[in-house]
Order: sequence, then C-alpha cells, then structure tokens
Amino acid sequence: MKKTLLILAHPHLQKSIRNKLIAEELATENNVEIRDLTGLYPDYNINVAEEQKKMVEADIIVFQYPLYWYNVPPILKLWIDEVFTYGFAFGKGNYQLEGKKIVVSCTIGSKEDIYPAETLEKIFFPFQGLADYCKMDYFAEVISFGEVHVPGEPKSGLENSAKKHAEKLRHLLRSVT
Ligand SMILES: Cc1cc2nc3c(=O)[nH]c(=O)nc-3n(C[C@H](O)[C@H](O)[C@H](O)COP(=O)(O)O)c2cc1C
Repeated sequence: MKKTLLILAHPHLQKSIRNKLIAEELATENNVEIRDLTGLYPDYNINVAEEQKKMVEADIIVFQYPLYWYNVPPILKLWIDEVFTYGFAFGKGNYQLEGKKIVVSCTIGSKEDIYPAETLEKIFFPFQGLADYCKMDYFAEVISFGEVHVPGEPKSGLENSAKKHAEKLRHLLRSVT
C-alpha cells in the first residue's frame, strides 16, 4: 500500500462508534499513519510544520470525519486552513502536495435516501476545489450512511456499517499503485 496519512477528525472520539472503528481497522494496515487531530491538539494549537512534513511524506491523504451540519467538524476546517498555506500548498510556484491523492472518507448520520448525488456533490465540493487549487488528485470518496445512534439501543447496525466502510476504504487504498 502507498504511504497513507489518515487525518482523523472527530471532536469526541470516545463517544464515536463509526469513525473510531474505521480508524482502528485501518490502523492494522502497513503504511497507514493515523493522525487523531483532537487527541494531538486538544487545545486546537496545530503544529503546522509537523503536519506539513507528514503530508509531504505521504502519497495519499485520507480525510476521515463525521458529517456535521453538512460540513466538516471545526478541527478539520482549522487544520486545513492552517496547513494548506501559501508558498507550501500553492502559490509562489510552490505546490509541494502536487500529485498527491485525496480521499474523502465520511460517515453520515442520516439514511442514504435524503442524500441524492447532487447534494453529496455540493457537500464534498470544497475538497474537490482544494485539490484543484493545490494541483492534487481528488481521487475518491468513501461514504456511509446510517442513523444517529440512540443511547441505550444496540450498536451492532452501526458497527457493521463502519466495518463495511473500513473494508471499502482498505480495498480502495490497496488498489492505488
Ligand atoms: C453536531 C452534529 C452535526 C451533525 N450533522 C449531521 C448532518 O448534517 N447530516 C447527517 O446526516 N448527520 C449529521 N450528524 C450525525 C453524524 O454525522 C453521525 O452521528 C456520525 O457520522 C456518526 O459517526 P461516529 O459514530 O463516529 O460519531 C451530526 C451529528 C452532530 C453531533
């Protein structure tokens, strides 16, 4: 597998069912490094130089996150704003991430039928725009739907959905040559 950086952005990983399980499954792969942003930066003080170094070393960057109000959780937005800087990711003829693949891996709380393709396209457009702007390769999306877990109810449906999601992502990453 190509060197992969999985940017895990979940504000409450201890309460997560799906993103936690997906990250645990992918952590067993060779060549996948997980960056748990909330664990690394509980005070949101991102080490930009370190994050840029990790990006430069990777071939594939996976954004792993739960959909929050049709958007990314705040730690991921901040991470993107701070890490994709002028003179590093774009501008001054410097495109240090050029050619690297972006994979969006998102868990969605609601059922699939309320997310037609046009809506999904709008939701993920910012990643497409980011990739284009930085001459990166917007490679794929892995999305899974579900239902918000009701505390006290069994978790097995969500766990199965997360396992299937992890399998799809694993397969996709292994397919990159
Ligand atoms: C603040 C917040 C906003 C959310 N917004 C959405 C949303 O816009 N659409 C949706 O389908 N689910 C939404 N959800 C549900 C989450 O996407 C869902 O619970 C999450 O993907 C499950 O992953 P986890 O088990 O790792 O937490 C939201 C949840 C929270 C806490």
